[in-house]
Amino acid sequence: MTPMQTMPEELVPVAAAPPTVTYRRIGVERWSGAGGAVISNVDLSQELDDEVVSEIRRAVLDHHVVFFRGQHLTPDQQVRFSRRFGPYSPVPFVEPVADHPEVIAVVREAEERQRFGFGSLWHSDFSFLPEPPFGSLLYAVEVPPFGGDTLWANQYHAFAALSDAMQSMLRGLVGVHSARDGYAPKMQAVHDLFKGMKVTTSDEALREQAHPVVRTHGETGRECLYVNQQYTIALGGFHQHEQRPLLDFLFAHSTQDAFTIRWRWSAGDLAFWDNRCVQHMAMADFTGHRRFMTRTTVAGEAPRGRAAD
Ligand code: SIN
Repeated sequence: MTPMQTMPEELVPVAAAPPTVTYRRIGVERWSGAGGAVISNVDLSQELDDEVVSEIRRAVLDHHVVFFRGQHLTPDQQVRFSRRFGPYSPVPFVEPVADHPEVIAVVREAEERQRFGFGSLWHSDFSFLPEPPFGSLLYAVEVPPFGGDTLWANQYHAFAALSDAMQSMLRGLVGVHSARDGYAPKMQAVHDLFKGMKVTTSDEALREQAHPVVRTHGETGRECLYVNQQYTIALGGFHQHEQRPLLDFLFAHSTQDAFTIRWRWSAGDLAFWDNRCVQHMAMADFTGHRRFMTRTTVAGEAPRGRAAD
């Protein structure tokens, strides 16, 4: 057996096609002004060949979040599809689905009454990790009759919309990320409200991780903002009274309506987004109804930017 054969084929990431290549095998229809595209001609429950996988990756890079409608996926099939884009990225604090260690369920039960849910604050998945996940794939198993939309905010646009002076200043800055306001023990009572999920908070969440405020995307080479309300707790080197207004400005600026992409879910939809260049948040506006999604995550790289170089 050669060394390559020791790795199951589906674990090998397929390189993105260069931008000059147009889509030949999949349909790609742009969804909104700020990004997003609906992909057609793909059955994700089947083994996909490298060309199709490469075109899907190209679409994710081009549109930042892509949507597939009308899928019928088991957790194993969702894992197999995710792995075509890179290895699994372990999910801290959240217990996986029984017998599927690479899948978490994102659930809100009909009886939950709190006005927030899992993922309700704007965030980029696990940006508190040294190597946060590149991709997240969310599959809708059961959806409410109204509400429960997910929103993404395009962080290339957010950065491009800033003045040259602000861009220059931000390029030199480091953001401090931490899971403390999400998963430290003080948050256990909040997670206990989420009836369909098991989250175990821990002091591990107090760990701090520095990342550049302006990230150079590892595949597109484009700059984007990389701060978020949920996990960015400070800016390196600033006094508290200096950084608070700047962080508040960045959180509001980076998620303004003009940069957002919104998806109204139907059962069988799958969204695949690039955490390197979008933030996202989930609406919890469907009290009285159940929403059940399964999520997988694909490993990413340590964020790079001029501040970190
Ligand atoms: C998340 O991944 O943060 C949850 C998104 C959602 O449930 O819509």
